[in-house]
Amino acid sequence: MATRASRPLGVVTRGTTNPNRLRRVDNWIVETYADVLRAAPDPLVVDLGYGATPVTAVELRARLAAGVRADVRVVGLEIDPVRVADAQPAADPPGLTFARGGFELAGHRPALVRAFNVLRQYDESEVAGAWATITTGLAPGGLLVEGTCDELGRLGGWVLLDATGPRSLTLAARLATLDSPAELAERLPKALIHRNVPGEPIHDLIRALDDAWRAAASYAPFGPRQRWLHTVAAVRAQGWPILNHPRRWRLGELTLPWPTIAPTQPRPTPR
Ligand SMILES: C[S@@+](CC[C@H](N)C(=O)[O-])C[C@H]1O[C@@H](n2cnc3c(N)ncnc32)[C@H](O)[C@@H]1O
Repeated sequence: MATRASRPLGVVTRGTTNPNRLRRVDNWIVETYADVLRAAPDPLVVDLGYGATPVTAVELRARLAAGVRADVRVVGLEIDPVRVADAQPAADPPGLTFARGGFELAGHRPALVRAFNVLRQYDESEVAGAWATITTGLAPGGLLVEGTCDELGRLGGWVLLDATGPRSLTLAARLATLDSPAELAERLPKALIHRNVPGEPIHDLIRALDDAWRAAASYAPFGPRQRWLHTVAAVRAQGWPILNHPRRWRLGELTLPWPTIAPTQPRPTPR
């Protein structure tokens, strides 16, 4: 339940969305952080900035209800009141509702917030403030998953945060259509997308992945999955502290602790 009405924090941005676009991050949430939702006294999830149609909020509810707990309640929050009105026919209370809200989460205290392709259209200088506002609104032990993906959900990257700040970065690709890991640079979360420049750790990581991918070319005849598995193993052998299990690598994923790839240099000129 919302506890207070306040002016939504943020600005209306492009509403581009697509069915199934967020399947990778949704499946990762179900697989990796189901415990947080199962343990939550109130299984409340906010889909922040669902866009011009509520399709990805509908899908999130379905995936969490099937994979984590049937009594999950997803609230789609949008800062654009027209999009809130347009989403109402898709509501299915109490499991799925739509309301106006911004980074302040409209007074909700969710166990999980998914905010995808929202900060991409803000300036990098606004990211830390948005993260802080959202994580302040989480229930105790709650999590924020904030990231970016392409229109079809083939390439993406997301940051996991809790009340203490960012914890990890996950990169994910549809291996069957991946030409090289360098493509992941185009869909980094806003906090990193302008940091793929020499001297920044994320640049070193992308370059290490790309080099390892080239070195693993002999595995290409066995399929892109084999090539990716050898790529990630090689990068780990170089000392990158890959957090996730090889069974997630098989899906085209890679997770690292945030401090490993956090920006180290002053912010570039705003754009
Ligand atoms: C590109 S759409 C993303 C839709 C969907 N999440 C997806 O990934 O396909 C971004 C949406 O975020 C909304 N938005 C931007 N800032 C917001 C904020 N502070 N709070 C809530 N919604 C916001 C915009 O109005 C827009 O509809």
